[in-house]
Amino acid sequence: MITATGTRTAFLPFARPMIEVEDVDEVADVLRSEWLTAGPRTQKLELAVAEATGAPAALALSSGTAGMHAALVALGVRPGAAVITTPMTFCATAHVIEHIGARPVFVDVEPDTLNLDPERVAQVLADGRHDVGAILPVHYGGHPVELDRLLALARDAGVPVVEDAAHAFGATYRGVPIGQVEPDDGDRAVSFSLYATKNVTSGEGGVLTGAEPLVRACRPWILHGITRDSWERYGPRGAWEYDVLEPGFKYNLSDLAAALGESQVRRWRSFQQRRTEIAARYSAQLAALDEIDTPVARPHVVPAWHLYPIRLRLDALTIDRGEFIEQLRRRNIGTSVHFIPVPALSYYRHRYGFDRDALPVTAAESERLISLPIYPRMTDEDVDDVVAAIRDTLAGHRR
Ligand SMILES: Cc1ncc(COP(=O)(O)O)c(C=O)c1O
Repeated sequence: MITATGTRTAFLPFARPMIEVEDVDEVADVLRSEWLTAGPRTQKLELAVAEATGAPAALALSSGTAGMHAALVALGVRPGAAVITTPMTFCATAHVIEHIGARPVFVDVEPDTLNLDPERVAQVLADGRHDVGAILPVHYGGHPVELDRLLALARDAGVPVVEDAAHAFGATYRGVPIGQVEPDDGDRAVSFSLYATKNVTSGEGGVLTGAEPLVRACRPWILHGITRDSWERYGPRGAWEYDVLEPGFKYNLSDLAAALGESQVRRWRSFQQRRTEIAARYSAQLAALDEIDTPVARPHVVPAWHLYPIRLRLDALTIDRGEFIEQLRRRNIGTSVHFIPVPALSYYRHRYGFDRDALPVTAAESERLISLPIYPRMTDEDVDDVVAAIRDTLAGHRR
């Protein structure tokens, strides 16, 4: 509720998970079963994600980051290769490129969606300056990247694609769910995050989807390179003997987390419907405000609406983005920023530089972004409170 001074009485957090009794019951069942690590519940989560997305196969892991890392290794991306990615992402997207000893090449984004711009990718592929080993796009905020063009470019260049779908569970591109890949397409993998703030969550976790051989190749690698997982060793039909094929990582997901994830995946449609309603309510009200640009949804996609990023018209305001966020916070509205461009972060800036002239859209747009709260628990009144706080802030700070 907003008071006469334009301030909510209780703080509205930027993100909240949608945990209900059935989630609690599912996790409690796992505790009672006494099988806590990866086992039958992890397998059920994999089946649920494969069914929801139409993917040929799915692999549960400890994070979305782990999924991208595993995919890059399984797709054979070599140390020293260049991996084309977007600067408008979380550091994890670039970190996995560093982890395999490859090098991120940040390519600018489209002004409307803030997704990797396929035409700029085409230029980088054509100019031949980089030995490109893969393309790693992000479905920013849950709005799918232009997959048709990007996948065609990758195919022509003979490079694999790993999609960072951390934000995109439930999104579709030309009617096809993000995560679905052709069963014979061994050059593509899609990594979802089940992190606490994501559209469906297991607290921490991730799911990688792709063709069956690719997912099979990743399986031992996410459990130390061991040929039999714990369930196959210690389950009712387990066998003690195992071998190690390579020094793999410890990226498996526990049954505890998987039970929560699967319980959430079962309800993804209702979560998505509420996110879509909230986005529509924001857009309808914010359209009247000249100082605010609202996010787009291209006609051939269904966004997951993980984020609702507005952009301030800073030339119409007497305050900058940081002060605008502070004004909203004082009005009890939590917000966030997605993202500080990765090449602007110290490690990447020192290593590769942040050439603002080479990334003009990123440089300009990233400074005026604010992500508003959007999650199924929000009521219409919560949405209206956010809009009221924005109006109130604008009223005092118009140029
Ligand atoms: C775009 C993007 N990629 C990757 C990740 C990493 O996901 P996880 O925390 O599951 O590793 C995040 C998480 O916030 C993200 O926003």
